[in-house]
Amino acid sequence: MALKKTGGLADVIAGQTAISTVGKEGKGLNYRGYSIHDLARQGTFEETAYLLLYGKLPDAGELKCYKEKLAGLRKLPERLRKILEQLPASAHPMDVIRTGISALASFEPEEPGRSAQHIADRLMASSGSMLLYWHHFHTSGTRMDTDGGGDGIAAHFLELLHGRQPEERHERALDVSFTLYAEHEFNASTFAARVTASTLSDMYSAITTGVGTLRGPLHGGANEAAMELLERFGSPEEAEAGLMEMLAAKQLIMGFGHRVYSVSDPRSDIIKEWSKTLSAALGDMELYERSERIEQVMRREKGLFPNLDFYSASVYRMLGIPTSFFTPLFVVARIAGWSAHIIEQRVGNRIIRPTAEYTGPEPGAWLPLADRK
Ligand code: COA
Repeated sequence: MALKKTGGLADVIAGQTAISTVGKEGKGLNYRGYSIHDLARQGTFEETAYLLLYGKLPDAGELKCYKEKLAGLRKLPERLRKILEQLPASAHPMDVIRTGISALASFEPEEPGRSAQHIADRLMASSGSMLLYWHHFHTSGTRMDTDGGGDGIAAHFLELLHGRQPEERHERALDVSFTLYAEHEFNASTFAARVTASTLSDMYSAITTGVGTLRGPLHGGANEAAMELLERFGSPEEAEAGLMEMLAAKQLIMGFGHRVYSVSDPRSDIIKEWSKTLSAALGDMELYERSERIEQVMRREKGLFPNLDFYSASVYRMLGIPTSFFTPLFVVARIAGWSAHIIEQRVGNRIIRPTAEYTGPEPGAWLPLADRK
């Protein structure tokens, strides 16, 4: 049936993009023609963000200026700090980051002189600040300055979170995860952000659309859900037994499978290596081994492979990041991709408005109120 075939818009080409290729024969995953392996292994998140937003890799001078610019955009307006203080301690960090971004729109709206790229840079540089300002205010009453600390966005986040300079290995692991999370073609949140942009709405509205769409566990929320899964089990053996029960009950296992990839997620091997490296440095391989056992069971029983979210969970855990911050970290990185797509959508824009196959009742006669049951 036609509806089943197109359910979830699977295999539908919904537009054109020059930003990235996902799962395309002979091209693999690349951002503007650069392989994800090179970007993650040899570059930094700032180089990736610059590439996505400004269309080319920065040279040494441009990169230095860009990093200085981003560092100068970490500070939060006083009135935004007040708003963050009003959000309850029990709020989900995704509510905090979405509200913070939304509030910033009213203090620094998109207007002539404040470009889309500038807003993207501002949001990448300050969304971690929003989250950690709210976090420290509610856990220790501290009204922290968010402008200092760390050279890049990853280092800044870890330093603000832990109150000390991060180990280089930790900074690098988070930075790599940001590069991997930065962009992924017409995924659900990017497509949603493009739909909002296609109505000629503003940057902040399109970005908050992306945040809301990313949150669900079938999309970005899967990294948080994968950690919750891992924590249910105390050992690889328990994980195997528990997983067999979940599969028998036909439950979804978060962090596995993908709409576009059918054999593997090219980002997974890179983040898995980091999970192993951090475990070895910690001198405790148990969480890694528990994760690997789940991977083996999923391959054996379902022929399914881990996606980026699965090993990101153990990496973030080993960086001492609370589970509820996992999806917001995905937001920080994906702002780069969303913004590049919003900017691309605006060029030669046409409103995105598909049609639906109608499956409701045939037209009938109007029923006066007294005749209705
Ligand atoms: N655990 C268990 N079974 C899974 C699964 C998972 N993580 N992912 C897919 N499957 C099964 C489906 O139940 C379906 O089985 P069926 O044919 O017996 O009904 C089959 O594999 C095909 O999956 P389908 O639902 O068509 O995939 P999709 O393209 O609609 O959805 C995802 C893709 C990513 C949403 C899906 O794989 C999923 O829910 N994964 C877990 C959430 C996740 O990790 N999301 C992050 C993605 S980067």
